[in-house]
Amino acid sequence: MQDLTHARSSALLLAGVHLASCFVSFAQSPAELRVNGQRVNAHLSALSRFGANPQGGVSRIAYSEADLQGRNYAVALMKQAGLSVHIDPAGNIVGTRAGSDAGLKPLLIGSHIDSVPMGGNYDGDVGSLSAIEVAQVLDEKRIPLRHPLQVIIFENEEGGTIGSKALGEGLSNAELDRVSQSGKSIREGIRLLGGDPDHIAAAQRPHGSIAGYFELHIEQGGRLEREKIDIGVVEGIVGILQSEVTIQGFGNHAGTTPMDQRHDALLSGARLIETVNKVVTSVPGAQVGTVGWVKVEPGAYNVIPGKVTLGVEVRDLEEQKFVGLFQRIQSEAGALGKLNGTTFHFSEPLMIRPALMDPGFQELIGNAARALGLSTKAMPSGAGHDAQEMARIGPAGMIFIPSIGGISHSPKEFSRPQDIENGANVLLQSVFAFDKR
Ligand code: GLV
Ligand code: MN
Ligand code: MN
Repeated sequence: MQDLTHARSSALLLAGVHLASCFVSFAQSPAELRVNGQRVNAHLSALSRFGANPQGGVSRIAYSEADLQGRNYAVALMKQAGLSVHIDPAGNIVGTRAGSDAGLKPLLIGSHIDSVPMGGNYDGDVGSLSAIEVAQVLDEKRIPLRHPLQVIIFENEEGGTIGSKALGEGLSNAELDRVSQSGKSIREGIRLLGGDPDHIAAAQRPHGSIAGYFELHIEQGGRLEREKIDIGVVEGIVGILQSEVTIQGFGNHAGTTPMDQRHDALLSGARLIETVNKVVTSVPGAQVGTVGWVKVEPGAYNVIPGKVTLGVEVRDLEEQKFVGLFQRIQSEAGALGKLNGTTFHFSEPLMIRPALMDPGFQELIGNAARALGLSTKAMPSGAGHDAQEMARIGPAGMIFIPSIGGISHSPKEFSRPQDIENGANVLLQSVFAFDKR
């Protein structure tokens, strides 16, 4: 009898312990939960196979074969993480996990996996694969969130935040017809990815239709590494203006045309490059201006260049400022053309407007990082990001991790595995903190 009572009370005790441990694991595990750092780093190196270049980075430009392969790989990871995956009309990959409160709007996390030509293995990839890792951990540990969670991999970020712009401001017909780096128009590219450019407006999400957006990304500059800071909390993202300039001269014999009778389009192009630098540095501030590509026609030793096309870009956190600088460049170009009888035509600029990150999201990210024992620094972003487009429809926040040597858009781009794991943990904990609010 005594034994039986003892057995019964032991069983009750065990059941109680079990219940308590269930309660403890449910109540405490979110704050203690961590990503699998090894796994996310292994996924990064697996993704870097697609579009690998001989210099050790990737050339995975949007709408290329490598882009398609990388996307297939990401879709497989998303399905493994228990997400239900679809391609939206803009060609973005969206993986959804249901929330426990059907009345709540979705919380989005993600980034991009397309790259610049001769790019690196971290820009966009870190944030995309870490977002999938967050979903994977939630799935493995069966942790419910109140909000539906959407992991989103935006298409063609490097070509002008195309996929995220489609969600926010929307894409115009002129933008869809623009020829992208791949040689395909954006319209053709979106179709190739499984999107539906004829119904692009259906990709748009109205202002206020999302609970928010978090994006983890490499810094792409050298401040965090230099100052030995673990995590950057982004305050704002620069705006970007890009315009293709066509300079028309006259192609003629390089041996028989005297120097004072030439209409050399490349000479005018060189003067324009110098003017961009001069105008952009003529006022104080952190604004930048670049001519990043030039095409010379016909392109031969013995022909004076008859036509040059080149790309001018200016960036700043303040829209008025960079638009004003661009207008000055345009007006100085007129005078440059008169020097040797060439003409300048600037295309309708591609504009990515600057955006501020949500102060509440900045606080959540900073607190999540510090609770993980990581040091933080508030900072602006000189690179463009999908987060700036998402900021137009809901609160957005960005987490930066150090880029070694401040190198990016280069095969030499590198972020340490531990920093990637840290960033992914900050992303995970920011999601929890937001969901709990
Ligand atoms: C995107 O990487 C950009 O800043 O151009
Ligand atoms: Mn980039
Ligand atoms: Mn990027």
